[in-house]
Amino acid sequence: MFETIVFHHYNQAIVTLLFSNTILKHKLSMKPLPVNLETEQKLFFHNYARFPIAVTHGEGTWLCSDNGIRYLDMIAGIGVNALGYGDERLIEAISAQAAKLIHASNLFMMQPQFELAEKLLALSGLSKVFFANSGTEAIEAAIKMARKWAGRSGDEHKKEVLSLSNCFHGRTYGAMSLTAKAKYVDGFDPLLPGTGMIAFNDIEDLEKKVSDKTAAVFIEVVQGEGGIHRISQPFVERLKELRRQYNFLIVADEIQAGCGRTGKFFSYTHVDADPDLVCLAKPLGGGLPLSAVIGNEKVADVLTYGNHGTTFGGNPVACAAGIAMIKAIEEDQLMQRAEETGRYMHDELQKLAARHPQILDIRQYGLMIGITVDKEAKYYVEQALRKHVILNATSQNVIRLLPPLNITKEEAQQCIIVLDEIFTEETAG
Ligand SMILES: Cc1ncc(COP(=O)(O)O)c(C=O)c1O
Repeated sequence: MFETIVFHHYNQAIVTLLFSNTILKHKLSMKPLPVNLETEQKLFFHNYARFPIAVTHGEGTWLCSDNGIRYLDMIAGIGVNALGYGDERLIEAISAQAAKLIHASNLFMMQPQFELAEKLLALSGLSKVFFANSGTEAIEAAIKMARKWAGRSGDEHKKEVLSLSNCFHGRTYGAMSLTAKAKYVDGFDPLLPGTGMIAFNDIEDLEKKVSDKTAAVFIEVVQGEGGIHRISQPFVERLKELRRQYNFLIVADEIQAGCGRTGKFFSYTHVDADPDLVCLAKPLGGGLPLSAVIGNEKVADVLTYGNHGTTFGGNPVACAAGIAMIKAIEEDQLMQRAEETGRYMHDELQKLAARHPQILDIRQYGLMIGITVDKEAKYYVEQALRKHVILNATSQNVIRLLPPLNITKEEAQQCIIVLDEIFTEETAG
């Protein structure tokens, strides 16, 4: 009797399972989950303002949506896709490494990590590498290294970590505490103690703020989120003088401006900033999550076993992609191309500015371009999207362009034509 009941329940359970599976399958096949803003609002925390397009694949500078529209992508995954979409060398490197080993952890040594580290050291002339997964994690690691390094001076108060106004360094607590804009910080206090801000390019303020209590000053040579503004040469020179006087570290955040985007692999070489620590991310993993902190001899032995680490940092597939990405940048002379295409875009934009009073200023460093306009840049981003061009707005009234480094002149010209149309239509009402 007991066995019969158990058998009956067992059978029923199987039938129920099969039935629910069938419903599930039916549901899935009959009604695929709509990828639209309405579903997005139901599924996710509301922290991203997404475009109303669902993307499926990309080809070069073109991003394709599920309804067959091709968009000219002038933002390249927010400065990540340096090679555009679908680069065969990248796909091959990723596939080959994925077939061999996707993850093993930093308990082991892995060829792709070693090769990428060697390449970064050769490019920078620095001494040591630490790999993490995102920009903000690289900044966190740099803050920790700076404080530990400064602690060796024996002065327990030498812990101050400074950054520049209008900067952006990330969204985890340390990086956020160094970040200027209220919109990234408001509501999250208390922030990391011992942080402070120097007015951007203001030498007087720099002299006031740094002291023998300073452990590090974080700089972006070209501020990205801040609206594409370059640090001035005199400011950098004074910063280096003060470093000699007070013995602190200069940390270059190359997360957006690095990996060739400004026409040189590291943007700090434009101003000879001579950083002690360098943070890289965004394009470093060819679209896979990867970041790096590179340091000079001063900080080479600051970390000791167990001091710092991350499970995924330096993932072998991401490192293989990074090696392929850097090789492609070199093979295709993409730094030179970024410089040339950037200058071409700058000249064309200047011509637009002469005809359209809405354009107030243009700033261009390689393929990092900011166009200041006389109203919220969001308006122009929306108009461009209607014409199938993807732009980005930052700092309220700045249109930011971060196209792939291999964008063609014709594609760049297409973007200019669309901008011209938008400004003309706006004037015509
Ligand atoms: C200059 C700079 N630093 C840090 C970050 C943070 O990087 P992530 O978003 O990968 O954490 C960004 C991201 O936009 C950045 O542009």
